[in-house]
Amino acid sequence: MNESTIKIRLMKAEDFDAIVKIDEKVLKTSRPEYYKTKFERLVQSKDCVPTSLVAEEKDGTVVGFVMGEVYIGEYGISDDKATLDTIGVDPEHQKKGIGQLLITEFMTHLKKLGIRKVNTLVDWNDISLIHFFSLNQFGLSKTINLARNI
Ligand SMILES: CC(C)(COP(=O)(O)OP(=O)(O)OC[C@H]1O[C@@H](n2cnc3c(N)ncnc32)[C@H](O)[C@@H]1OP(=O)(O)O)[C@@H](O)C(=O)NCCC(=O)NCCS
Repeated sequence: MNESTIKIRLMKAEDFDAIVKIDEKVLKTSRPEYYKTKFERLVQSKDCVPTSLVAEEKDGTVVGFVMGEVYIGEYGISDDKATLDTIGVDPEHQKKGIGQLLITEFMTHLKKLGIRKVNTLVDWNDISLIHFFSLNQFGLSKTINLARNI
């Protein structure tokens, strides 16, 4: 990739279709309802700071995205933590550094908002995603995710 051809910008409501399509290509299953809820929060909530980003090509084609959340409390940002909820790069554009670029810009953006820690959850069996986050300086958190079948 020539990084100068990729622009990272804040996600907009109009990106919905492109994001759902990339997610479908990546996960091989469609999750429009999940994204509908996320986009409602992104666009409508006064308490939600814009953090989600997209990577677009010069012609405006969206080729990747990262979504996260930070909430503002009554007196401004109540916490110095944020979440990275989901990341995806169009399979036709993977392994060119776009994922790394998205993470770097996401971190820079959050740091400016006063965030000092970003949490994410990864499936224990998703070795390649764990490897990607490790390459991008994520390490084991001191919080563990407990679960119980019912
Ligand atoms: C994880 C993911 C975001 C990475 O996106 P990407 O754009 O391919 O990421 P990068 O290009 O920055 O890095 C990926 C690899 O390409 C390599 N790479 C980066 N630029 C490169 C280049 N110019 N030439 C060759 N390799 C390159 C990186 O070193 C890295 O190496 P690795 O194979 O050892 O991991 C992407 O694979 C994806 O969307 N996966 C599915 C994610 C998912 O499941 N999301 C839902 C739950 S969160």
